[in-house]
Formats: sequence, C-alpha cells, structure tokens
Amino acid sequence: MTPASANQHTNPSLAFNLILAIESSCDETAISIVEAKWGNSKIPIELCVRAHIVESQNEIHQPFGGVVPEVAARDHLAKIHSLAQKALNEAQIDVHKLDAIAVTLGPGLIGALMVGVLFARGLALSLNKPLLGINHVDAHLDPTFLFHQFSPQNDLHQWLKVPERNWPALALTVSGGHCHLSQVNSPFDRVILGKTADDACGEAFDKVAKLLGLPYPGGPELEKLASKVTESRFKFPTILSDRSNRYGFSFSGVKTAVLEAVRKETTQHKGRVSGAMLPDDLKAELAFAFQEAALGQLIHRMQNAIADHPDFFKCALVAGGVAANQRFKELLNTLPIPVFIAPLSLCSDNATMIATHAFLDWQDGFENHAFPRYQSATTLS
Ligand code: KG4
Ligand code: ZN
Repeated sequence: MTPASANQHTNPSLAFNLILAIESSCDETAISIVEAKWGNSKIPIELCVRAHIVESQNEIHQPFGGVVPEVAARDHLAKIHSLAQKALNEAQIDVHKLDAIAVTLGPGLIGALMVGVLFARGLALSLNKPLLGINHVDAHLDPTFLFHQFSPQNDLHQWLKVPERNWPALALTVSGGHCHLSQVNSPFDRVILGKTADDACGEAFDKVAKLLGLPYPGGPELEKLASKVTESRFKFPTILSDRSNRYGFSFSGVKTAVLEAVRKETTQHKGRVSGAMLPDDLKAELAFAFQEAALGQLIHRMQNAIADHPDFFKCALVAGGVAANQRFKELLNTLPIPVFIAPLSLCSDNATMIATHAFLDWQDGFENHAFPRYQSATTLS
C-alpha cells in the first residue's frame, strides 16, 4: 500500500477514540490510556495521553543480573490490578467510556505476556468492549511518527498534534530483544530488510555491562561508564565479515572480543571471568570501545541502505530502548537524511505505544495481531 492510498480511505464513525492499553511482555508493567482525534486520514490528527504508567521491575531482577521470567510474571500479577486502577484515576475517566482494550500479545516472555493478556481479556469481557492484540515490535516504532515530543511530566492530558512524516522511511527498531532494519512505506506497510543473527543490540549492551560488573539493566550503565573517556586503547570489530550481508546485524563477535580482552587484562584465561575488579579507567575504555563498535554497526547498516538507494528514503525512524543512548544520537546526526528518534520516555517499553498501535490496527477489524505484519525481504523494493 502506498502512503497516498493508506490515507485515502477512512470511516471515522468506526474509529476508536479512547483506548486503555496494557504492556507486560518483559520487565515493565505498563498501562496507558490514550485518546485520539481523527480527520480524514487513517492516522489520528491529534493524540492525548491521559495516563502513562510504567512500573519497572529493575530492582527485583538486579540481584540476578538479568530478567528472571518466573519472577517477572509473578510481579506483573501482583501489580497489574492496582496499576490499572491508578491509570483510570490518573486519566479521570469512567471505565465504561473506554472504546477498547489493547494488549501486547507478543513477542515476549510467555508467563509475563499471559498476565497482561488474561487481565486485558477479563477487563474487555466485563466491560463488553473489543480486545485488540498488539505486536510489541511493530508498536515500538509508532512514537517516531506519531509524537513530536512526549514527556509524562509535561504532556499528560495535552492534545498533541501528530507530525507529518514523508515516506518511505528507513526504520531501526533496536531494543533488548530486537534489532530490525526495515523499510516503512507507510505506517501500514513495513518490510524487514535485516535482523540480528544472534543477540539484539541492547542484549549485547546488557551482557557486556554484566561482564564489567555493572548493575542490571546494563545498557544505560555502560553508556555512563563509556562517557568517562573519549578514546580507548581497545578496538573491537564493527561489522560482520560476510560482505554480502549489507543490512543484517550480529553482536556475538564484538561481545566475544570484549570477553577476550577482559580475559587478557585479568589473566583469567579459563572458566568464568569478571572484569569487575579491573581499574576504573580500563573498564571505561572497554565500555567505550564496545559502544563505538556496537553503535557503529547500527549506523553502518543504515548507511548501506541509504547508499544502495540514493534519494529513496525520505527520513530515518529510530526506536527501542537503545535509542535512548546519547552517543547513538550523535552518530545518527551524521546520516544524510532527517532522523526522528522516539521521545525518550517512549523509547523503552511502555503502553502508550501499544495504545497508539491499536489506533492504527483497528482498521483491519478486531483480529489479533500477535505476529509481525512484516514480510521478509532481502532487497529494497
Ligand atoms: O525497548 P526496551 O525497553 O525493551 C525491549 O523490548 O527489549 O529495551 C531495553 C533495552 C535493554 O537491553 C537496555 O539495556 C537497552 O534497551 N538500553 C540501552 C540504553 N537504555 C536502554 N542501551 C544502550 N544505551 C542506553 N542508554
Ligand atoms: Zn520493547
């Protein structure tokens, strides 16, 4: 579907205006209530976030150095009801005024997902409202083209104009679970160009952070450590050795390179190794070199797609937890097309993106969209 045809048909009388959305796919229990105003297009013209609640489980997973699925599911279960009540209070709306309930159906941790999905089903049944299943990875990208800005401190209850974007866009969704480069012809037509062959970029950040003895979640901590230096005695590989793979990612090589460097510096050549006891300046240089290599790979893949099709992409869209990284923002600014990064509070997991994706998805009826709508593609079309 071209952007023009995507915008031509609409039936505003069918549009949902007020959605409560639930996100529980990993270690955040998030509930948002979002209202939309419609014009003549299939994309809302204004959005108003009436509640945006994100309850992180960081503290309970910290002792384990990563997310423990069983612990995550039980924590969602303990909190979800009171957080839904809190969201309704924050929104100051009568629950019967909701037009639909949206929930992340996948991908994610099955136990964690089940808590959100079953709670959402119960709510939808009791209110006799439609239940919309949303794909988490698709939803991550929406804040890049639906919001100029959004901060829960300043923008709750404000009607925010939906920006105009030019399509096609080159999109990067880069989080703890996913690393996708895609061609977005319109919000309704997305084609994957490349994925990671192994770890997601955020996952690699978390693992290297753990190796350096940093607390979970490691991504932001590793960035903080790396920012203490401006150069490094280490240099890690940025790109895959497979030169025919221009849009795919792989982070296991750089992760192993950091591990080998830590082994050398600690002289622990066998068994489990930790860099936690290394001198601070050395750890900072390891973090710096890893960050440059990992982020450099993301930029390199975007550069490839832009160079392969000159004048094709009108802009780049970047979303997911790693998009919160400041050094990444600097590197993205070197790309030769305009770049729109998700607002900081909508980079990591949240339910506002689930609600907004429901506004886009309703046009296909009430089917579940548990699976990506992407088709696989190895070349740009
Ligand atoms: O999107 P998200 O909240 O959850 C997933 O869908 O995975 O992303 C979380 C990931 C984690 O791996 C986290 O370490 C990473 O995003 N992350 C960062 C930064 N902030 C979060 N990675 C690098 N630099 C950051 N500043
Ligand atoms: Zn996510």
